[in-house]
Amino acid sequence: MQPNARVPGYSTIAARLVGALLSFAIPASDATAQSVQRGTTIARTYCSKCHSIDRLSPSPLAIAPPFRDLHKRYPVESLAESLAEGIVTGHPTMPEYRFEPDQVGDLIAFMKTLE
Ligand code: HEC
Repeated sequence: MQPNARVPGYSTIAARLVGALLSFAIPASDATAQSVQRGTTIARTYCSKCHSIDRLSPSPLAIAPPFRDLHKRYPVESLAESLAEGIVTGHPTMPEYRFEPDQVGDLIAFMKTLE
């Protein structure tokens, strides 16, 4: 008796799973999703030491507002100028950052996903 040839092998199943996961993370040719992806990386690299950048966790530095709360104070788009010209807060604990226009767009696209 031959084994049933129609049962897919593990490698086929794994390949389908990986494909499904990838298409979930980055919908093909979706420029916004890719911008969000880059913004997430920027936030994780430069901001997550102090600010919470997800939907639930408290900020590692308690006085730094979680990014998900910023839009309650002002539209996050209004941060664009300060991110490009150097964001300075009233609190010296926050270092000054300055970003390229593309990076500003990416960071704001990411912040909007938290609203
Ligand atoms: C070393 C810690 C630290 C890092 C790193 C940091 N922040 Fe902050 N941030 C703070 C603190 C503390 C505050 C609160 C300042 C205050 O209340 O005056 C703050 C406040 C802010 C605010 C609110 C400003 C306001 O007046 O509403 C924004 C927006 C912000 N940070 C953005 C960022 C971004 C974007 C990054 C990454 C590029 C970043 N922060 C990285 C510590 C940090």
